[in-house]
Amino acid sequence: MSVTGRSGALPPSRPTSDGVRRVRLIGVGPGDPDQVTLEAVRAMREVDFFVVSDKSGAGADDPLVAARERLLQRHLDGPARVVRVDDPVRERRPDRTSTDAEYAEVVASWHEARAAAFEQALLGNDGDAGFLVWGDPAFYDSTIRVVEQVRDRGRVPLAIEVVPGISSIQLLAARHAIVLHEVGRAMHVTTGRRLREAVESGQDNVVVMLNRDLALEGLDDWWIWWGADLGTPHEELVAGRLGDVRADIDAARDRAKAAAGWVMDVFLLRKVAP
Ligand SMILES: C[S@@+](CC[C@H](N)C(=O)[O-])C[C@H]1O[C@@H](n2cnc3c(N)ncnc32)[C@H](O)[C@@H]1O
Repeated sequence: MSVTGRSGALPPSRPTSDGVRRVRLIGVGPGDPDQVTLEAVRAMREVDFFVVSDKSGAGADDPLVAARERLLQRHLDGPARVVRVDDPVRERRPDRTSTDAEYAEVVASWHEARAAAFEQALLGNDGDAGFLVWGDPAFYDSTIRVVEQVRDRGRVPLAIEVVPGISSIQLLAARHAIVLHEVGRAMHVTTGRRLREAVESGQDNVVVMLNRDLALEGLDDWWIWWGADLGTPHEELVAGRLGDVRADIDAARDRAKAAAGWVMDVFLLRKVAP
């Protein structure tokens, strides 16, 4: 696999002389248009069109599509060319995704369907494409992998560039004014699905994303720093001994969901000395 250099390594014009299309995966932070880097703004201004996945099929009513459009309005001088792609429906029924093998298979076929949809969007539109990636593209986001699949399918020669963004993990730490790990110690980042196995394997300082519920039995004495819809007007923060703040978190999650129509939460759990 070839690796492109810094963004300056590719000419800003398109397509390149060898017909390679430039695709920019732009990290846009976790929701606040102020938390977008200058490099990301420059990239947004340079691309010819944006490919935006519409997860719910709800079009303008999808709150995350609307959030991305607000970002573009804020940072571009004129209207953006947005190519919407219906996100292929992903199997989410717990009984179909309970084992690791089932989960991996479901995700692989979803990625394949997404790659086909992105390929169509690229074939149907000329110029440099931009993908607005929530938070930072390196954390629990498959846009890099899916666009690599498009490249590997071979119908659209692509040069992929990634622009980093502020992750929800960083914003969580900033809002609580904490360091995510203790001095010289490790930090484990995982999903809600894998939290239990992380704790059982001895992890005692765990950042959790993609959380489905707060089924955290047995951890009442651990400390939690929790945040939902960070960077939005409906942001919620709770911190404390888990056993003491569990009900506060449930209530805060309900408030965020009612106010914003969606809720995404991220948290740090730490085992503290009694
Ligand atoms: C698909 S992952 C994308 C993560 C993203 N790439 C990042 O760097 O934050 C979505 C998860 O990120 C976390 N997340 C993203 N945005 C958030 C926000 N504004 N507030 C709280 N958590 C957020 C939640 O754990 C959510 O389930």
